[in-house]
Amino acid sequence: MCGIIGYVGSQDAKDILLDSLELLEYRGYDSAGIALADPEGVHVYKRAGRVQDLRELCKEGVPASTCGIGHTRWATHGGVSDRNAHPHQKGQVALVHNGIIENYRDLIRKFNLEDQLVSETDTEVVAAVLDHYYRKVQDPAEAIRRTVLQLKGTFALVVIFDDKKDEIYCVRNVSPIVMTTFDGNIMLASDVTALGGYTNRYFVLPELCIATCAGGEISLTDLAGEKEVEPEYITVDWELNRAGKNGYPFYMEKEIMEQPEAIAKTVEPHMTDGLSDFTAEGIPDEIFTGCDRVCIIACGTAMHAGLVAQALVQSILRMHIDVEYASEFMYSNPVLDEKTLVIAISQSGETIDTLSALRYARSNGAKSIAIVNVRGSSIAQESDYVIYTNAGPEIAVASTKAYTTQLSILYLIVARMARLKGIYTPEETRAFLSNLTKVPEVMKQVLDKKVEIHKIARKILNAKNVFMIGRGLDYSILLEGSLKLKEVSYIHCEAYASGELKHGTIALITEETPVVAVVTQEKIFAKELSNVKEVRSRGASVILFVKESLASQIPEDEQENIFVLPDMADAFMVMPASVALQLLAYYVSQDKGFDVDKPRNLAKVVTVE
Ligand code: F6R
Repeated sequence: MCGIIGYVGSQDAKDILLDSLELLEYRGYDSAGIALADPEGVHVYKRAGRVQDLRELCKEGVPASTCGIGHTRWATHGGVSDRNAHPHQKGQVALVHNGIIENYRDLIRKFNLEDQLVSETDTEVVAAVLDHYYRKVQDPAEAIRRTVLQLKGTFALVVIFDDKKDEIYCVRNVSPIVMTTFDGNIMLASDVTALGGYTNRYFVLPELCIATCAGGEISLTDLAGEKEVEPEYITVDWELNRAGKNGYPFYMEKEIMEQPEAIAKTVEPHMTDGLSDFTAEGIPDEIFTGCDRVCIIACGTAMHAGLVAQALVQSILRMHIDVEYASEFMYSNPVLDEKTLVIAISQSGETIDTLSALRYARSNGAKSIAIVNVRGSSIAQESDYVIYTNAGPEIAVASTKAYTTQLSILYLIVARMARLKGIYTPEETRAFLSNLTKVPEVMKQVLDKKVEIHKIARKILNAKNVFMIGRGLDYSILLEGSLKLKEVSYIHCEAYASGELKHGTIALITEETPVVAVVTQEKIFAKELSNVKEVRSRGASVILFVKESLASQIPEDEQENIFVLPDMADAFMVMPASVALQLLAYYVSQDKGFDVDKPRNLAKVVTVE
């Protein structure tokens, strides 16, 4: 969703802002803008459309400036238009904003703004209120403080003033801002991806602190302006560079191909002597032994990772586990107490639904562990403990390597719990985890056969509807596979527990409805295969992803459109199968000529509820 960038230093701000806005494109947006400060004041350039359109607008007549702010907007209040794009300028103030101001209507009334507003946004109201106070006090930090005290909602606000040509101010509540300095320059952004190339050291602006960026330094004070606050810098070992797609046509393909390495990097730091180990994270064993139920909260793909964990926790740990859409969690009156271990899963660490659910769970006494990819993100900060996936930056909107690295951490947690609860001996734990250490190699075998999957993908290119069927863990895998296909190919696709088809849905199966079946679970494969037969006999063409050791049992006349997945223990087949389904979705989207990395209407970081 919306992205923010700010720069003040010795270089040309326009180019830095436009390049950084491009790095933020992956979050999803529909308009973009920048504001540049010079001795004459602040100059705003903004436009509905892509950053490329903004570049065109800024080609000529833009003053030289070394200080500016920029924004990519994902419309919430007011449609997609030049006027509604950020930055918003009112009097002496220009600002960009992420988040939602809930009381903007009250503010319009309170400050008599009705006749001054030219956009339909909540953000312009904030700019007007801030300008009101700035005129009164002529002190940026004090004006911001007074404004913030008027606001209800979530916000990351970044401001420049037309008589402070080398200064940027910011403040936030919930919506993140990361900041850094390098060689006398200051950069800030809504997420670390936009700092790409300049530094791998940054800090997250603490909530309700006012940051003043001037003279190559950032100073932080609490909202009252009484106390200085020390920034807590984080260093990441990601390559925050601009190398981009590394020769691949899309980030999604690059990220699919990176999975073996990402999983190895995620698993290795958490293994000691063949056993899972979270001492580096400071997670005490009691958090695992002291809980009598587990609750996973997450959204979308991350929630699908939770569903795989659910099967493992139930079958191995024999424990009660709920997996909930974070957006539904607090409205479902969940049972929570100090014996509940809540696991919040999130790639971005900023998904507001997951963050709100985590806060709710903690306020009701639950203990929490977050599985997060982005260091220092809000969910990472607010959880009792955090385990990072080392997937590196995920730019494509469709999540791939984040999902499989989340799964990796979940396997490690289950193994740790099984060991601590005495369900597994050390030897059994090692045997279980030896499957996980084999995953990168097994995944490579699937990736090496991507051309085969590309051929298979052509079979569903022109389908309007696709069904994906399987049972048990295969069904969990397909929920994610079907989400992938929907979001990047725009084909309607349903994942269905295949035993359930005959209770209604099989009415939709015709020759026009291709069916993707995943068959990887030895215990239930005979039943899965008979469900496949049911749809074949209703005319459906079937694409079959089958585990190697089961493939010989597929009759010869049903071997068309079959992809053989390398063998792993059943509980780990989710890994090779997921990669195959990711590639399937990817190739359908690519062959349809879509912008695979930026599917319509979607945003990478979802910061509205
Ligand atoms: C789908 C996808 C989304 C995210 C969901 C949660 O490919 O990426 O479903 O998984 O929006 O995002 P995070 O993991 O950042 O909390």
